[in-house]
Amino acid sequence: MAGTVLVGAQWGDEGKGKITDLIAPDFDYVVRYQGGNNAGHTVVHGDITLALHLVPSGIMYPQVIPVIANGCVLDLKVLLKEIDTLAAAGFSTDRLQISGNAHIIMPWHIALDGASEIQRGASEIGTTRRGIGPTYEHKAARNGIRMQDLLDPNLFRAKVAASLETANAILTNLYEEEPIDADMVCAEYLEMATRVTPYITDTALLLNSELAAGRKVLFEGAQGTLLDIDHGTYPYVTSSNCTAGGAITGTGVGPMAVKKILGVAKAYITRVGSGPFPTELDDDIGAKMVEIGGEFGTTTGRMRRCGWHDSVITRYAAMVNGLTDLCITKLDVLGFLDKIKICVAYEIDGQSYTTLPGSQSLLERAVPVYEEMPGWETDISAVKRYEDLPIEARNYLERLEELAGVPVTIVSVGPERGQTIMRGWQSL
Ligand code: GDP
Ligand code: IMO
Ligand code: MG
Repeated sequence: MAGTVLVGAQWGDEGKGKITDLIAPDFDYVVRYQGGNNAGHTVVHGDITLALHLVPSGIMYPQVIPVIANGCVLDLKVLLKEIDTLAAAGFSTDRLQISGNAHIIMPWHIALDGASEIQRGASEIGTTRRGIGPTYEHKAARNGIRMQDLLDPNLFRAKVAASLETANAILTNLYEEEPIDADMVCAEYLEMATRVTPYITDTALLLNSELAAGRKVLFEGAQGTLLDIDHGTYPYVTSSNCTAGGAITGTGVGPMAVKKILGVAKAYITRVGSGPFPTELDDDIGAKMVEIGGEFGTTTGRMRRCGWHDSVITRYAAMVNGLTDLCITKLDVLGFLDKIKICVAYEIDGQSYTTLPGSQSLLERAVPVYEEMPGWETDISAVKRYEDLPIEARNYLERLEELAGVPVTIVSVGPERGQTIMRGWQSL
């Protein structure tokens, strides 16, 4: 049993797509286990840049089988567009496997996501408005529509009618939006069904039998630890379990199948959308991070909020995911700084916290306690070996590692596959 989970250790966009693509050739399967097209994972190789939202980031390798498992939610239009874009770029998705238990993001989920954000006003979550929250709501309420429902048109029509009865009542009465027509939806979705149903499989059965046969499986997390519905900065989170545990419930493999858990964190930290952010930089340094790091969302194009690396968060991610390895990305971006700060603790109401406070109101009042280290003030984007990094960069990484309590076994110094320093990472 050789399962590895790759998980975001911050608020998403840590560079999971790049690292998944980097290590994917060591695996037989790459599996998305939660989230939907709120994710935007960028993979860069030579002239090719792929912004993947649903298809797992191992897609560039013909020998790797991509799987979208039961914990995911799928927008069929986005899926088909992604499949076509990949085909045009020369990447076949013929081997893609999709769970029949994955829920479908229907048009009313997208409408409800947008309308509820408008209603929240100043306290909006800042969702991607891709319908993620309402789809998971309906899954939990047991009136969602699943991929397997596409296989039976009559059942599909009945489920659409039942779901729309309440969704339209809410859309029209509560939000004063237009109702959605069930017949039009059914015609459109049953036509798309002809293209997507060939991918439907019992992915839990597939993954368990392949793991038992000694195949290697990489579970690719979306979003990040602090966006997890249970362990994140609730309510400013997404609606799924992005943490390593999600790979278990989101695929149907047992916990003992997972041997390694790789957390990915930036050398600094970013967040898209609303919510507390203790180390946020509202100054020229933050603006420079946006500019040099290209910190604009892959999915919505929104500017990402930037701040100093927060080791309280990385340590928390190490705990709730059980990280065995840490990958630090975007180290190259900090080359413009003569001094770099790391948050080592929070001060809240005169008390020091080295772990994330459990309460939202405490976190909102957290004042970061910083340690300052000298910067390297040079371009490190072509460095290939750890010992060739400037001493200041090595000291910085070793301090991050010490504070997180997890070995840094991969360091990323640029978006390309080759711009990576391996420091002891071993795929199983
Ligand atoms: P993901 O959602 O975690 O896969 O991350 P995104 O793809 O949304 O955002 C990460 C961005 O940083 C992408 O544009 C990547 O191409 C880029 N990137 C990844 N690693 C590095 C790195 O080490 N240095 C730089 N400069 N860019 C990187
Ligand atoms: P990847 O996989 C960064 C954020 C949204 C919002 C909150 C809830 O690329 O790291 P949702 O649409 O999920 O209901 O929005 O979560 N969010 C992300 N932020 N990266 C992502 O994915 C995200 N997916 C959702 O901005 O704050
Ligand atoms: Mg992203």
